[in-house]
Amino acid sequence: MATFTLSVNGEQHKVDVDPKTPVLWVLREHLGLVGTKFGCGIAQCGACTIHLDGEAVRSCTLPVSAVGDMPITTIEGLADDNEDDLHPVQEAWLEHDVPQCGYCQAGQIMSASALLATNPNPTEDEIEEAMSGNICRCGTYVRIREAIQTAAEKA
Ligand code: FES
Ligand code: FES
Repeated sequence: MATFTLSVNGEQHKVDVDPKTPVLWVLREHLGLVGTKFGCGIAQCGACTIHLDGEAVRSCTLPVSAVGDMPITTIEGLADDNEDDLHPVQEAWLEHDVPQCGYCQAGQIMSASALLATNPNPTEDEIEEAMSGNICRCGTYVRIREAIQTAAEKA
């Protein structure tokens, strides 16, 4: 066991865990942030996507010891503090009624928002590439692509 201080959604959190513990476990089990989902556990489905220092990463294979002082953002911290505000990607998701069962959607939104933060006007190919690691069993891919385009137009 070791103590780590993590910056999550703008707040500092101390956790006492095995250094090899995946960040996904720390978020869900220790911090109660259950918006980030467990899907495959082997970096193949994207359900567990978070932002680490602004980049979309798979939290199921990221050991807590690798985080250091890099800020983590989860789906709970994506929008502004004001509860009424949504992130433009979340607004576009609502507009296009994207989710079906919803299980993959937090990960999809985190990948999409990381893409638009660095590339506000992505081409279809760039969207395809950025989202290729996020699997949706319900097949909402068409609405996901449309929502990303809408979010890009609004930004
Ligand atoms: S649960 Fe992490 S990529 Fe599938
Ligand atoms: S909405 Fe069901 S897995 Fe994507």
